[in-house]
Amino acid sequence: MAYRIAPSILSADFARLGEEVRAVVKAGADLIHFDVMDNHYVPNLTVGPLVCAALRPHAQVPLDVHLMVRPVDALVPEFAKAGASIISFHPEASDHVDRTIALIREHGCKAGLVFNPATPLVWLDYTLEKLDLVLLMSVNPGFGGQAFIPSVLPKIEDTRRRITATGKDIWLEVDGGIKAENIAQVARAGADTFVAGSAIFGARDYAATIHAMRDQLAVL
Ligand code: DX5
Ligand code: ZN
Repeated sequence: MAYRIAPSILSADFARLGEEVRAVVKAGADLIHFDVMDNHYVPNLTVGPLVCAALRPHAQVPLDVHLMVRPVDALVPEFAKAGASIISFHPEASDHVDRTIALIREHGCKAGLVFNPATPLVWLDYTLEKLDLVLLMSVNPGFGGQAFIPSVLPKIEDTRRRITATGKDIWLEVDGGIKAENIAQVARAGADTFVAGSAIFGARDYAATIHAMRDQLAVL
């Protein structure tokens, strides 16, 4: 299994974002996770396409844009233009989920659906084959630094079973409360892509932290 580590810049120093992105790429990040919050779908406000475009030249890896916004569609072309490689959205925040998936793909990006801890996987029933990625939240969205919610583990297993049944290479990303101490458990449940914000940016040595995570994955 190819594992990917996606540092979330939500926990980076926002006064030095370009530098932070370069540092974490140098430390071994596979993706940069970019959390977009609108103070409407989630009770927090972060950054938009302008900042994404400004960071694009600093990131030598794909930009993984996680939209926590309602409505979704108007921002899709904006983030595609800003250099997003992946755009993921929460199905309950879109009026027409199938249309939003198509819109993301028409703009040349990979499409992901995001599930909050209590959101059922039923949204995958008629969409999974059209997706490049499923993102399972292991915290309630809105803030970094929250504790991993263990009831998401069986949900990761269910999602992995559904992905395997398609025979397609659909990524299974997990977001929230991931650190070196629990990453192996999350991987064993079936995840292949791991978002980590506070665990990486809260550490003094980014490379040592990412290596510690990879060491845990290497022995699986
Ligand atoms: C939460 C965000 C996460 C968050 C993860 O709404 O989607 O990406 O930054 O941060 P940690 O790893 O600190 O839980
Ligand atoms: Zn996120």
